[in-house]
Amino acid sequence: MKAIGSYKALEVNETDAFLDVVVDKPKATGRNILVEVKAISVNPVDTKIRKRPHPDETLRILGWDAAGTVKEVGEDVTLFEVGDDVYYAGCITKPGSNAEYQLVDERIAALKPTSINFGESAALPLTTITAWEALFERLGISKKGNDAGKTILMIGGAGGVGSIAIQLAGQIANLKIITTASRKESADWCIARGADHVINHYDDIPEQLDMLGHAQVDYVLCLTNISGYWKTITDVIKPQGKICTIVDFFEDANFDLLKLKSASFSFEFMFTRSMHQTEDMAEINFLLSKAAAMIDSGELITTVNKIVSPINADNLRKVHTDIEEGQAIGKYVLEGWT
Ligand SMILES: NC(=O)c1ccc[n+]([C@@H]2O[C@H](COP(=O)([O-])OP(=O)(O)OC[C@H]3O[C@@H](n4cnc5c(N)ncnc54)[C@H](OP(=O)(O)O)[C@@H]3O)[C@@H](O)[C@H]2O)c1
Repeated sequence: MKAIGSYKALEVNETDAFLDVVVDKPKATGRNILVEVKAISVNPVDTKIRKRPHPDETLRILGWDAAGTVKEVGEDVTLFEVGDDVYYAGCITKPGSNAEYQLVDERIAALKPTSINFGESAALPLTTITAWEALFERLGISKKGNDAGKTILMIGGAGGVGSIAIQLAGQIANLKIITTASRKESADWCIARGADHVINHYDDIPEQLDMLGHAQVDYVLCLTNISGYWKTITDVIKPQGKICTIVDFFEDANFDLLKLKSASFSFEFMFTRSMHQTEDMAEINFLLSKAAAMIDSGELITTVNKIVSPINADNLRKVHTDIEEGQAIGKYVLEGWT
């Protein structure tokens, strides 16, 4: 089968960072399904792992977002049949989706939405799992509307995760959503996905919140640069408010700043369940199935901004280059192998 991989940790412009290769097709066993990959999308994690050394310099296939068709099922599979169209992010410790065929555990895949194509579907899984877990599991926001009207500040709203988090927070929880974006096109993108207000992350955030009449917020979801925003976040969170981030601190944070407000903090890492094979791994099947239904009913709209074809090393390098700049709006997808 065709795949795109590399043998070393390399910068995006280095020749061998993206190689078109031919490797053996894997075989489905146990709870794995074998998926013929029709479309993939690229996330910042791909660019981070690409630059991370791997000990034995064997072929590394990246990619953690795909949509395709089930071609084989392992002997313990119960959720899918051959011929099903699925979408999934996969597991960070396993070979990725930048390949014609990929094995994935059935518990972390779901039937793809029927109303959108493979490309649009491939844009969704990784960011949807992240946003869903952050909002409803880490921040504990009610999926039954019990928190309707409460305020959330999302820092970095126009990126891949923000593009779906805005929609889930609006459609499922009916929150008042304030996102940040620094350009007209990124601000317009957030509004189109349901943000109530957009403020600029490069201007004074507390001052802008104050002007909106929301000097303090119930929830903060920080999708980038948590260290840079930490002091601001602890200033604007309400007493007993909740904060979640999906990114690493790059310097020590002062958690004492939360004490007088009894504010709480959590990390979200969307690979936790698959990486540690947690007992509730199948929650991912559930949430991706729910998101697919919401796409098909029109409650959620696409997060795709760009589709490139075909899937090959040259095009993958171009998309990695775009993503690495950190200015992406929505999701960038690659579709088709020929
Ligand atoms: N923990 C997890 O499970 C998990 C899952 C997914 C992603 N992540 C991580 O989360 C981060 C965001 O992912 P993503 O896919 O949403 O990224 P992305 O699509 O690359 O985000 C791009 C957006 O970031 C905004 N941005 C850039 N610099 C900013 C800054 N200083 N302050 C606020 N916003 C800024 C830009 O907005 P403007 O153009 O408007 O400035 C742009 O729209 C990445 O580091 C990624 O690796 C973690």
